[in-house]
Amino acid sequence: MLGQTPMVDTSLLEQIKSQFRLNTESIHGINHWIRVETIGLFLAKETGADPTVISHFAYLHDSQRINNGIDTKHGNRAAEYTKNLLFQGCITLTKSQTTNLLIACKNHSERDAIPRNITIATCWDADRLDLWRLGIEPNPHYLYTEFAKTFRPLQLSRAVNMIQNI
Ligand SMILES: [Fe+2]
Repeated sequence: MLGQTPMVDTSLLEQIKSQFRLNTESIHGINHWIRVETIGLFLAKETGADPTVISHFAYLHDSQRINNGIDTKHGNRAAEYTKNLLFQGCITLTKSQTTNLLIACKNHSERDAIPRNITIATCWDADRLDLWRLGIEPNPHYLYTEFAKTFRPLQLSRAVNMIQNI
C-alpha cells in the first residue's frame, strides 16, 4: 500500500502468511496481495468502494490456494478461513463489511459471477488488473466498474507491476 495507514495489521498479515501453502514469492503470493491492495485503494477513491473491505480482500482472497494453476475452490476456502479469523476476533468489521468481504472472497474466481455492489466489483477489478504480472493486459470486457476500464487504472496497474519487477 502506498503512503496510507495500513488497514490490515502486521500480526494478521503474519498469520495469513504463516499458513499460506505456496511460496509467498509466487504469482499468487504476497507481492500480488500488496498490488491488489494498491490498485484497489486507487480504484476505491473513484468508485466509492469500502477501503477496509478492499484491503482485507487483497490479503485474503488467494490465501487458501493449494496451487498456482486451476484451483476452483480457493475462493470458497478463503471465505471459510476469513470466517474463522472473524470468529477468533483477528478481524473486526461491521456486518455489511463482513458480508461484502465473504462474498468477494468466495466468488472472486468465478468468471460469470455478478457483483452485488460497488465494493465487491472493485475488489474483483483490483485482482483482475494485476494480470500484468503474468504478461497479460487486462481485458476491459472482464472488468466490472466503469472506472477500471479507463486509461488511468490500466496505466497504474501496469506501473505497479513494472516497479515491483525491476
Ligand atoms: Fe488474486
